[in-house]
Amino acid sequence: MRIVFLIVVMLLSPLTQAEPLVIAHRGASGYLPEHTLEAYRMAIEQGADYIEPDLVVTRDNILVARHDIYLSTTTNVAEIYPERKRTLEGREDWFVHDFTLAELRQLRARQPFEGRSTEHDDRYRIPTFSEVLDLIKAVRGDRIIGVYPELKAPGLFQAAGHDVASLLLAELKVHGITSDIFIQCFEAEALRRLDNLTDLPLVMLVMPRSRDNLAEPNIPLAEIAEFADGVGAMKYLLMDKTGQSSGFVQQAKSLGLFVHAWTFRDDQLPPLINSGEEELLLFLKLGIDGFFTDFPDTGVSAVQTFSRAPER
Ligand code: G3P
Ligand code: CA
Repeated sequence: MRIVFLIVVMLLSPLTQAEPLVIAHRGASGYLPEHTLEAYRMAIEQGADYIEPDLVVTRDNILVARHDIYLSTTTNVAEIYPERKRTLEGREDWFVHDFTLAELRQLRARQPFEGRSTEHDDRYRIPTFSEVLDLIKAVRGDRIIGVYPELKAPGLFQAAGHDVASLLLAELKVHGITSDIFIQCFEAEALRRLDNLTDLPLVMLVMPRSRDNLAEPNIPLAEIAEFADGVGAMKYLLMDKTGQSSGFVQQAKSLGLFVHAWTFRDDQLPPLINSGEEELLLFLKLGIDGFFTDFPDTGVSAVQTFSRAPER
């Protein structure tokens, strides 16, 4: 059923294209503090097909864009709310669902990656998911921009009384989003539930089962095909250190799953690779359908180079 739906959507969608999708991972996060409207806007300007908000929830039940359930690494929370630190699941930190949206509005975003510019730290706010969707609507001109939300820790939030899957679907409904979207998650249970609630394309995020077995996903692909339309795969699953294909992409496609790979970073290149574009071209040759990158401009350039390659 899911496969039939996906084929129909692909035939109808303006984003339908032979070219792999450039997914702006946390926005243009290689350049600006991640998960800010400014980082998403830059990604769109650089030509990304999709922007990727990771979603967590506030105490007053509003979805906001952050990569983690905690705030210390990507904001100035320690300076604004020093007394609100606590321990959760063994981590001492400030947790998003302890704060109301009004309180989070007082925070400003910071660059969490060492070596990247901190020039824009303490300038930009944490956006709500609703604001991200408004931004997409506002910048949509001739070009359709897709959105690729990830539900972070839905199980933990459920236990704390927040149904983030329902919040996500409600927000999409309010904004009239019915296409040019993928919903992703690391938790199979949340996706199985979503599979019963929506026909929107679902993406199961996977990583290698173990360090000794990088080619095997932590959830079997055949199981994923029961409830998801695609797989968001850590790139090490796809190719070994010598550059040989693991067969992952072919196996996923034989089950009807598309493959989006993560995460490509110009400033974290594998040994013997000289540029972000060079790395991406190796993966594009494997037949991936899209990829998450912190540097959307490099991603766009790599897809253009790939599409011109005569041996494709
Ligand atoms: O969602 C794809 C990729 O972003 C998964 O990794 O940890 O950056 O959300 P993470
Ligand atoms: Ca993500």
